[in-house]
Amino acid sequence: MSRAAAFTLAAGAAAALAAALPVRAAPDGTPDGATVFARCAACHTKTGAGVPGAFPPLGPDVRTMAASAAGRRYLALVVTRGVSGPITVAGKPYAGVMPAQGGLDDAAVAAVLNHVGTAIVKTGPDFKPFTAAEITGLRASGTALSAQDVGKLHAASGGQ
Ligand code: HEC
Repeated sequence: MSRAAAFTLAAGAAAALAAALPVRAAPDGTPDGATVFARCAACHTKTGAGVPGAFPPLGPDVRTMAASAAGRRYLALVVTRGVSGPITVAGKPYAGVMPAQGGLDDAAVAAVLNHVGTAIVKTGPDFKPFTAAEITGLRASGTALSAQDVGKLHAASGGQ
């Protein structure tokens, strides 16, 4: 199967999965990051290892990015606006498209990034959790940006 066909298939599967998965909230109303992550796993895989050449790994870079203001903005906008390269992640080039992840409110975006930064990525700099209020501000800072525009923010995000 060509890489493009594999990408289309995976994207379709991800969309179907996202539609089938309601965002479950804990009894106190906090969305469950692990539940939200199921939609990310459709592309980035359950462990976050990704698929070389198609879906980048969610690895220590994520924690490096989360350690700077520019990187935190990039991470929030990747989820809320999508991202399209060319970008280099862990030394490998990617030039695909991650669609904006619709249907996630600010608390759910914070929850999934916190799940990635703690349960999926276990090495790298200390991880400072995102709050819903922080996501509100970061999301608002990028409402005019396309996925390609977000890709251009990668270089200054601290990711390698
Ligand atoms: C339909 C497949 C798909 C889904 C679903 C998806 N992603 Fe992505 N993601 C990608 C692709 C593809 C890229 C790289 C874009 C490129 O090739 O330019 C990417 C890039 C990223 C990056 C940037 C990595 C870096 O080092 O710059 C992060 C962070 C990320 N995704 C997190 C998530 C999270 C969190 C979710 C779930 C809320 C998610 N992704 C859902 C396909 C997906």
